[in-house]
Parts: sequence; structure tokens; C-alpha cells
Amino acid sequence: MFLVSVQSMQTGTITKYNAFKQIDLPDRTWPSRVIECAPTWASVDLRDGNQALAIPMTVDEKIEFFELLVALGFKEIEVGFPSASDTEFNFIRRLVDEQRIPDDVTVQVLVQAREHLIRRTFESLTGVKSAIIHLYNSTSPLQRRVTFNKSKDAIKEIAVEGAGLIKELVTSIPETKIRLQYSPESFSDTEVEYALEVCEAVMEIWQPSQINKIILNLPATVEVATPNVHADQIEWFCRNMKERDKAIISLHTHNDRGTGIAATELGLMAGADRVEGTLFGNGERTGNLDIVTVALNLYTQGIDPLLDLSNLASIRTSYERITGMNVHDRHPYAGDLVFTAFSGSHQDAIKKGMDIRAKESADEGALWQVPYLLIDPQDIGRDYEAIIRINSQSGKGGVAYILERDFGLDLPKPMHPQVGKVVNAAADQNSRELNSKEVYAIFKNAYVNISNPLEMSTIEREDPLKNGEVRVEAKIIYQGKQHTVTGQGNGPISAFVNALDQFGLKSFKLVDYRQHSIGSGSKTEAAAYIQIQKNDGGTHYGCGIDPNIEVAGLKALISAFNRMEKS
Ligand code: KIV
Ligand code: ZN
Repeated sequence: MFLVSVQSMQTGTITKYNAFKQIDLPDRTWPSRVIECAPTWASVDLRDGNQALAIPMTVDEKIEFFELLVALGFKEIEVGFPSASDTEFNFIRRLVDEQRIPDDVTVQVLVQAREHLIRRTFESLTGVKSAIIHLYNSTSPLQRRVTFNKSKDAIKEIAVEGAGLIKELVTSIPETKIRLQYSPESFSDTEVEYALEVCEAVMEIWQPSQINKIILNLPATVEVATPNVHADQIEWFCRNMKERDKAIISLHTHNDRGTGIAATELGLMAGADRVEGTLFGNGERTGNLDIVTVALNLYTQGIDPLLDLSNLASIRTSYERITGMNVHDRHPYAGDLVFTAFSGSHQDAIKKGMDIRAKESADEGALWQVPYLLIDPQDIGRDYEAIIRINSQSGKGGVAYILERDFGLDLPKPMHPQVGKVVNAAADQNSRELNSKEVYAIFKNAYVNISNPLEMSTIEREDPLKNGEVRVEAKIIYQGKQHTVTGQGNGPISAFVNALDQFGLKSFKLVDYRQHSIGSGSKTEAAAYIQIQKNDGGTHYGCGIDPNIEVAGLKALISAFNRMEKS
């Protein structure tokens, strides 16, 4: 029974918790090492991950998950704890009976160092081609005292006896290629000298060789210290063990302090060869190590992770459906929002990076260098849709990026701040995010083909004059009344400006004119942008869109004029 307590956090002198004792390793070498290749990955989704679920997976679900892991490229998969329940036992039997285990995949089975459980585990393996038998018992002072009430020697004896029985039974399934793994559970909280003593006692029994190595899995069953301490523990262990060349050192970090990934990465720098973990970090309490994140972290350092994570969204969908767990919006690489920038300055930088990238796109091997984006989202099956989203904190670059990416509108740079402000204000007013169609609609309403108070209904262009200029005659509606205006200039736009001048409407000067086409084939349209400056100083922009390039230019001019009139 738990006592209900009303006490709260201690303040001042904290007596309830102690700092973790540092490892005596002043000449540690791991801080200056670099990870150069992917470790051997071992998935424990179907065991550690499964035992952490409120509703454990059914056999069918486990089979689907197993197939997902195989498709991703896992070569070592812990398929459960076959002696723990019929479901676990039946699962491995189905894998065997239905011949679902590829030849290059080794299944791993977990077992406590207890005789009847070990025997049952061997029964589950009949007919398996290649298996890892994973023996464990807990070794930390806390577990020795509280859970087992046993001395160090007695705890070591449990490991030794279990190892002995396994050694004896290996010959009972000669058709199975067996590899052996031992975990001093709660290694992270165990005196390193004692953990090594127990592991070496197990090695003594199993007699590994350089060819048939033992897997020594050193779990951070509970994460009790900073990741550098974990790295020290691993380096200390690797340096002090007698036959390092006969062992594969494996990591198995949990995430109680939220640093399981860091602990694994530093553990690899400290000399480990193998990593156990789960997809997206599912597992007891705060979870096991998230293999997806560590693998993609390697990838972003230019290292092939040897796992196929190129369709992360579908991996995530399968994972969520089968486990009933959710991947958080901010989860590295897989979260919905992790490639999204709402903030204006970030959007500007991303747009610049993406523009440069677009120019380099012919060169697939070009270095990925887009500010704020650690990885190219497309490498893991995500598109660029989400990278810029517009809300009240967004800015000019983001809006310009969306108009270009989704609508082919390449706004002149000087226009960006004004347009950004207009869209930004609309998002602020609505107090919500705007989707890309809404951004376009706001831009269109404010800048494109604006026909009030000035509208042009027709324009006729005469043959070039002797001096090469053109003359135009246009029918316009200004403030609801029809007029015919005429003018000349070195092109239709300047001729129309001249006509407005003669009509008494020119209170501005033309500053800039640009145009480009949108789309291709019969659907091609022209977009034109005009910047005018009012005689008293204000700058106004307009955009014209029309299948005819000249008309687009005139519409842009009229839009800018109308915006000026309304300002
Ligand atoms: O976290 C742990 O210590 C384990 C062991 C059984 C390896 O899962
Ligand atoms: Zn675990």
C-alpha cells in the first residue's frame, strides 16, 4: 500500500537526493573521439517497447511490427520474453512456423537467470536458424538490497548459474546458431568494478572467442546521471575488461532524465559497438533509446545509418497504429512541426537557403545548407509544404516563399516587406495560422488586378510612330465615369502613363517594372509587378496577372495606381 503524502519539493538544502558519484577516469579519451560508422542496431520494440504498453500488442500486431523492422533493415530483433507468457511464446513460434524470419535476421530472446524460464526459452527456439539468448539479472546496490536482499556474491552467483545452464542447453538445439548476450541490469547504477566482475564471471562460463563473441549489454535501466558519466562508465568498462576483443559492447539506454540519446551517442564515442533501442523511443516510463533519432543524427553527420528511414511518415503511421502511442509534434525528425518555421526571421533565412538550393538542384550531391533545417525533409519522405507556415509571427520571406512555391509568383524583393505586413496583419486579426490558399487570396485582394477607382476597359495601340514610340488610346472608367485617354511613349506602359498624365491623373513616377511567366503550355499566364512613387514620396506596388503580357503590365500599373489612390 502507498501512503498518501502531502509534502512537496524540498527547498534549500536537498537531503532527499544525492549527486551521482563520478567515475574515476581522469584520462578519459571519449570526448575527443568521433563516431565514424553506424553501430549494430538491435530493436527491442517487441519486448521492452511492448512491455511498456497499456495494451500490449497482439500476436498479429507483433508480426506486423516485426515485418516493419525487417523492412527497415534491422538484423537483430528482440522478439520477446518467450517464457513470460503464452502470447510471447506463441509469437516466436508463429515467426518460425510461418517462416517469417529472413536468413540474415537474428532473433533475440530475453530470459531471467532462472532455471524454469531458461528451459522454456530453449523450447521456444526449436527450428530457429539464428538466435541470441539474452540473459540478465540486476546488479545495482539498490536492487541487491531492496529487491533481492542478497550480497554481491549471491547476485553474481545468480548470473553464473544462469549462464551455466544456458551453456549446457545450447547443445540441445544444434540446428540453431546461437549467440549469447548478458546484461547486468541496472548497470548505470552499479559500481563499475562489480559490474565488470559479474560480466567476466559470465564470460568465464561462456568462453567467447574472437569469432563467437559475447554480447555484453550494459543497460542504463534507469538513467541516473548526466550522459558524460554514462560515457565514462562505458570507457572504463572497455578499458578494464580482460578480453575486450571477445566481446561486443552493447548500449541500452532509457530516458529518465531525457538524455538517453545523448548517453548513447557518448557511449558510442566511448567504445560501444552495438545499440539497443526502439522506434521513436517507446519503452518503459520515459522510454527506451529512440533508434530513429540516433540513426538520423548519424546521417546528418554524413554517416550511412544502414537503416532505411526514407519514408518516416509511413513508419510513424504504422508505429502509432500498432502501439497506440503518439509521436509528439516536436519529436526530432518525425514530429509534425519539426520542419516548420513560423517566425519571420527564420522564414527569411530558410527562403534564402532554399533559393540557393533550387539553383543547385541539378547536383544531387550538393551539401545541404539551409539555415534552421538540419536535414533535407525530402530525404525522409517529407515534403517542403510544412517548412514555412504563416501566422502572426511570420514575415516577408515566408509569405514570398509560399507565393512562389505554391503559386509561381516571384515577387520583386522590395515588395516583400509590404506584402508580408499585409498578410501578417490578416493572420493577427484572425488569431490563427493561414493556409497557403488564404495567403494567396489576401495577396490577390490587396495587389492583383485592382480595378477601383481606375479601370481600363479597352486599349488600342497604333503603329509605331516615326520616332519609334507607340501611341495608345484607352477607354477608362475613373470614379464611375467613362473617359477616352490617349498618350505615347516608348512602350504601352509608358504610353498609358503619358495618357493618364494628359488626363491629369499622373501624380506619381514609375520606379520599377518586372514580369515573368507562370505555368507552362496553353495555361501560361504572365505576372507583372510595378512599383510607383507618389510625388509626395510614398511607394506603392501593384501586380497584374493576365494571359497577355502587355495587359498584365497595364493591370499592374493600374493596381499600383489604385493602391496609391486608396492609401
Ligand atoms: O532496461 C533494462 O535493463 C533491460 C534489460 C532487461 C536489458 O531492459
Ligand atoms: Zn530496458
